Amino acid sequence: MYYSDEIVEEIRAKNDIVDVVSGYVKLQKKGGNHWGLCPFHNEKSPSFSVSGSKQMYHCFGCGAGGNVFTFVMNYENYTFPEAIKLLADRAGVQLPEVEDSAQERQKQNKRARLLEVNKEAAKFFYYQLRSPQGEIGRNYMEKRRLTEETLQHFGLGYAGKSGAQLVQYLKQKGFADEEIKEAGLASYSERYGLTSQFWNRVMFPIQDVQHRVIGFGGRVMGDGEPKYLNSPETPVFDKRRNLYGLNYARTAKAGNIILCEGYMDVIALHQAGFTQAVASLGTAFTSEQASLLHRYTENVLLAYDSDGAGVKAALRGIGILRESGLVGKIINMKPYKDPDEFIKNLGRDAFQERIDGAENSFFFEVRILAENYNMNDPEEKTRFHREIAKKLCAFAEEVERDNYLQAIAEKYFIGIDNLRKLVNSYAAQTGLVKPLERPKTGQAKANAQEENDKRAQRVLLTWICEEPGLYDKIRKYITAKDFTEPLYMQVAEKLFGDLEQSRFNPAGIISMFEDEEEQRQVAQLFNTNLPELSTKQERDKAFHDIILSVKRSSYEFYTAQMGADVNALTRVIEGKKALEELARTHISAD
Ligand code: UTP
Ligand code: MN
Repeated sequence: MYYSDEIVEEIRAKNDIVDVVSGYVKLQKKGGNHWGLCPFHNEKSPSFSVSGSKQMYHCFGCGAGGNVFTFVMNYENYTFPEAIKLLADRAGVQLPEVEDSAQERQKQNKRARLLEVNKEAAKFFYYQLRSPQGEIGRNYMEKRRLTEETLQHFGLGYAGKSGAQLVQYLKQKGFADEEIKEAGLASYSERYGLTSQFWNRVMFPIQDVQHRVIGFGGRVMGDGEPKYLNSPETPVFDKRRNLYGLNYARTAKAGNIILCEGYMDVIALHQAGFTQAVASLGTAFTSEQASLLHRYTENVLLAYDSDGAGVKAALRGIGILRESGLVGKIINMKPYKDPDEFIKNLGRDAFQERIDGAENSFFFEVRILAENYNMNDPEEKTRFHREIAKKLCAFAEEVERDNYLQAIAEKYFIGIDNLRKLVNSYAAQTGLVKPLERPKTGQAKANAQEENDKRAQRVLLTWICEEPGLYDKIRKYITAKDFTEPLYMQVAEKLFGDLEQSRFNPAGIISMFEDEEEQRQVAQLFNTNLPELSTKQERDKAFHDIILSVKRSSYEFYTAQMGADVNALTRVIEGKKALEELARTHISAD
């Protein structure tokens, strides 16, 4: 990990989770916990709990959970180092400089300088727009119906009347010719010396997710070629790995992200309240951008142009989204060309309706495919059906494939059995699809048993976490090795290790895990619903049963391992002894 365990733990300890979460979510104290509406899914009654004693949160609705770092990472869509930084600042903890090699430092310095040049250039354009000579730019923005607030929000600007002005300004700010050139803001010519390619254009600063300006797009006002001129790729401007508007969209929490083609589309959508809109950077959508989006959402709505090129780009985009495991849908922009024009003409409510009615990407593909065939011609119609059958083979899961098959058959009036036969024959030919194996009942039973065992392990860990004093009662019978689920075993090792030394820090345990999914699982582990018990007798019995159940499943687990694992025998002997002793011992859960 990036920072030492000590500093991570210090920062965590200094940021009380109830305080931090209260800054984002309205919480109410009830019992030992604080409750509120979960910020990670839509709900009407609170199932989101924050525990001050455990320094953890857990949602009983959607299963989200973790410690204060997990919360900030998920809420702000931050990486771990970003969350560390935010919380260190919040608590006034000085983060140590991370030691880098000389070469690495030099690279970082250069990046920092390039970001500086870009930032200064953005300032220059911004003030030009507001200067007397920027009037032409202001008029253009007004014509495009951008409000002053929007201009500010996106830092829009005007490049000035000549390409010499920007260069002069940047040099005066102390930047070397080489730096200005490397930032992609100017180039040499024999005749004019160092000049910027950006002049007499309205300027769109392109920001990365941390709001740093990494490049520009500049649009001619009116007709002219090229319509948009973009900064070239530089060490800080990677067009494959950034998206216009993502610095705002990533915290929009709309449950989806709208992917558009143009800068203007993004701006118009944000201005209309759709702050989840992003666009690629004058280049085709890439798989890197899809992975980037996957950090923030599962659902991507394509709002591409309604013309032929837009449809083609959408078809390509769907494929990329699918490969990245994202669900893609298509927003119908007709009768307008793009989101900007749609919003201008029909307004935000109409666009919301289009969002709600966005088309499933498979249906979209088939609909576009259908346009190539004359269905009145039996020959062409047959070919269309074959193409559909081939496409259906791409669904590896039988249930999904059959659901699509039924829907498409209905939509295009194809006999369902005929289509199914066709699909099966293609599937057999290509070997693409294997019929799903049905789970055997024996297997299903084993799965249920495994789930029960895991649940008992979770209950025990939660119980100890709620009442750490109980550890003394179980340490004779239970060790971390009895937790047969690898993640649980790791957690138990740490928890029990701490308790042996009279320490108790469940939230710190979460920090041991870098993966967010694991953090979520650990939080869940400490937040299992405990049985509702009224009498002491019931409590004692339930506690005894849980210990017995954990021990028994551990015993069975290691018995099955014998032969494969040399240590299993020791565990089996120890387990047998403990089980016998447990059978005749009363344990009080107080
Ligand atoms: P469009 O031509 O669809 O323009 O290009 P637009 O977004 O509707 O822009 P307006 O409304 O006419 O101002 C879509 C995107 O393609 C890139 C830009 O990123 C643009 O936003 N593009 C287009 C270029 O990079 N260069 C061009 O010459 C044209
Ligand atoms: Mn447009």
